[in-house]
Amino acid sequence: LRTAILISGRGSNMDALIAAARAPDYPAEVALVLSNRPDAPGLSRAKAMGMATAAVDHKIYAGREEFERSLQLLLEAHRIEFLCLAGFMRMLTPWFVSRWSGRMLNIHPSLLPAYRGLDTHERALKDGVKIHGCTAHFVVPQLDEGPIVAQAAVRVADDDTPESLAARVLQEEHRIYPLALRLVASGRVRVEGNRVLGALRDA
Ligand code: GRF
Repeated sequence: LRTAILISGRGSNMDALIAAARAPDYPAEVALVLSNRPDAPGLSRAKAMGMATAAVDHKIYAGREEFERSLQLLLEAHRIEFLCLAGFMRMLTPWFVSRWSGRMLNIHPSLLPAYRGLDTHERALKDGVKIHGCTAHFVVPQLDEGPIVAQAAVRVADDDTPESLAARVLQEEHRIYPLALRLVASGRVRVEGNRVLGALRDA
């Protein structure tokens, strides 16, 4: 399954997906790393690893649709069949999302449906929750919604800071995102409404 990873920054989830996809029995290959920021650290790392890379700078487009049309052309040129958003910080329009319906995953740093959006670790700490985590899910037009493929939980410690909590959640992201892509790419899960059946509970 020819997969593109879409990033905007650091790209540590990209690293995890690339590493996992190197296994000979992995059902997806990373055929392209695409960034909307030409200066994303993840992009230069991917380049250095010898991956196919591209940057589509959203700032030079008049609007979201023009930007996305350009993304779409590039993805088609690389014969991409599946997308993984990994710290991709642009909202996608229903036009783009519907084109990739059932063929696009995202990783989010909270146990959805709790803490959609930004600053999830800070908000979780403020609320005093004892369990926090991350979610790999299919992308639908609504931000941070969509059928959940995998989740992992971490305990919140009394002395956690947003940074320390983020670091522990990130380790789990790196573990479950490749698992989620494996499950979906191998066709082992099926989507029924908002539910993904066959997913691992303790991924
Ligand atoms: C991760 O925490 C991910 O869950 C969120 O953005 C962050 C990206 O980190 N969507 P990285 O670029 O993968 O290192």
